[in-house]
Amino acid sequence: MRYGLFPGGKRIRPILTLAAGELFGAKHKLLMPFACALEMIHAYSIIHDDLPAMDDDDLRRGEPTAHRVFGEGMALLAGDGLLTEAFHIISAPQVARSVPSALVLDLIHEIGHAIGAAGLVGGQAFDLEAENKEVDLATVEYIHVRKTGALILTAIRVGARAAGAKGTELRRVSRYGEFLGLAFQIADDILDVKGQTPPGERPESGRKERKKATYPAVVGVVQAKERLKELLQQSLKQLSGFGAEAEHLRAMAHFVAGRALHEERNSKIPEIQF
Ligand code: IPE
Ligand code: IPE
Ligand code: MG
Ligand code: MG
Repeated sequence: MRYGLFPGGKRIRPILTLAAGELFGAKHKLLMPFACALEMIHAYSIIHDDLPAMDDDDLRRGEPTAHRVFGEGMALLAGDGLLTEAFHIISAPQVARSVPSALVLDLIHEIGHAIGAAGLVGGQAFDLEAENKEVDLATVEYIHVRKTGALILTAIRVGARAAGAKGTELRRVSRYGEFLGLAFQIADDILDVKGQTPPGERPESGRKERKKATYPAVVGVVQAKERLKELLQQSLKQLSGFGAEAEHLRAMAHFVAGRALHEERNSKIPEIQF
């Protein structure tokens, strides 16, 4: 479990939780259990995603994947453990001291929906089913929105909702998250094409040959980049009604898309002081 969680990758989901909560004035201490839980869920999902029965990858973030080090049984259990502990952490009595219990319950329900059959797990199932098949763009988006978009959207919504966001403002931030979630997977797939993935993240050599349903595979890298630019603009537009307090969310959108749009291989996450 530690191997999959530390030192970790870009920490995009917990940063989004903190940035979205910050937008509505929440203290980071209140948001932190949710931020940590969402990163643990992400860590579980990639440990399982890399297993031989799924994407069969040998490397993750430049290091051997969990099952290569500890064996498949232990990797399965590490993923199960991270997923379970995530819900254990946010349902702890201490959390309900700073966030109303009814809201905590609602957030747990929302996370469960986002990562269950209608979200991440369902998306991963469709991703496997689509392997080595001809798929159209609508199918690719359908898979992306679920396997990757749902957790990113939830990371944002949970931060915002824990901070008390409601109504139009919550809807705006959610739309931002929907565009960002899709943008994220398209950017990831563009970076995966012919070894553009930044050094140390996921060298191409770790990936076995298989045809996945991705934007670049269906429409090519040039058009995938165009779609990514469009999604970046659409996500930023949702934040236009907010002021400087949305700067971290804007910076995250630029970071997510910029990694795949700029040609430099070392683009770094923006310095965000929380
Ligand atoms: C990789 O996610 C898996 C996808 C959902 C595409 P990240 O690129 O956020 O992984 P790390 O944690 O930063 O390595
Ligand atoms: C991973 O998607 C999505 C989840 C783990 C839920 P990918 O399989 O496309 O991501 P990478 O390329 O292995 O990081
Ligand atoms: Mg996969
Ligand atoms: Mg994979």
